[in-house]
Amino acid sequence: AAVKAMRYMLNLIHMDAEIVIGEGEIDEAPMLYIGEKVGSGMGELVSIAVDPIDGTRMTAMGQSNAISVLAAGGRNTFLKAPDMYMEKLVVGPDVKGMIDLTLPLEQNLRRVASKLGKSLSDLTVMVLAKPRHDAVIKQMHNLGVRVMAIPDGDVAGSVLCCLPDAEVDLLYGIGGAPEGVAAAAAIRALGGDMQARLLPRNEVKGAADEIQRCEALSVKINEVLKLEDLVRNNNLVFTATGITHGDLLKGISRKGNLAFTETLLLCGQSCAIRKIQSIHDLARKDSEIYKILNI
Ligand code: FBP
Repeated sequence: AAVKAMRYMLNLIHMDAEIVIGEGEIDEAPMLYIGEKVGSGMGELVSIAVDPIDGTRMTAMGQSNAISVLAAGGRNTFLKAPDMYMEKLVVGPDVKGMIDLTLPLEQNLRRVASKLGKSLSDLTVMVLAKPRHDAVIKQMHNLGVRVMAIPDGDVAGSVLCCLPDAEVDLLYGIGGAPEGVAAAAAIRALGGDMQARLLPRNEVKGAADEIQRCEALSVKINEVLKLEDLVRNNNLVFTATGITHGDLLKGISRKGNLAFTETLLLCGQSCAIRKIQSIHDLARKDSEIYKILNI
């Protein structure tokens, strides 16, 4: 439903847009696949990164922090990253320029803590609670760092690091590359910093395919990508709408035929952080979108 709704609304817009970060390759995703053209086909040349649900499992299980994400910029704004894993290190504006993925994690933590005037035990690091991060979590615990382990959803986690009132100092770990690029749009708009590295999965079938896809898209594997490589300029917008209630956004709530949503809107040029509260009347007979979604 999220993919359908997003695609329907995008096609109403007067623009010549291409999905560069989407639901997968053309052979895996029927809608919002990488390379799909959306919009009227006329007007501004736009590239779009979407993650209609970041936190699919959380949505299904009623867990918090699932969001719907879209970033848009001019042509060639976003790195065309295939659907593979990406190592990510994200910090807020106060420590921009202090991270370096070629250094060990501990050194990065010490550099960030020192710039923030904090001790390691006052540093909070968000990380996806996945078995692949067990060793890193243990290492941080041993250093006395506060760990905030989230089940899924590293786009919201990345945004949370960069907000002015952030309670999280860093996000570190391996997550999806498409989510990494979408998050990078928000990080740029918020003045934060990010470094990343595309990681082919060595141990599973499909690694060769991932390498091939990277070669076809001319993207570097296993090399450090800076924020400017992920999102090349500030002429962009980023939006995230809460699906389930979370630290970043309120989730969707219903009262009869009314649905209430909260959306974060970031603009790379104005640097403004906006929150939009919307009321949707699901009983409106003239609204095509509700008919399409069978509401
Ligand atoms: P989806 O909702 O698209 O499945 O993504 C959730 C997510 O947690 C992302 O935020 C994260 O980047 C990725 O999955 C991590 O991948 P994996 O589920 O393989 O650990």
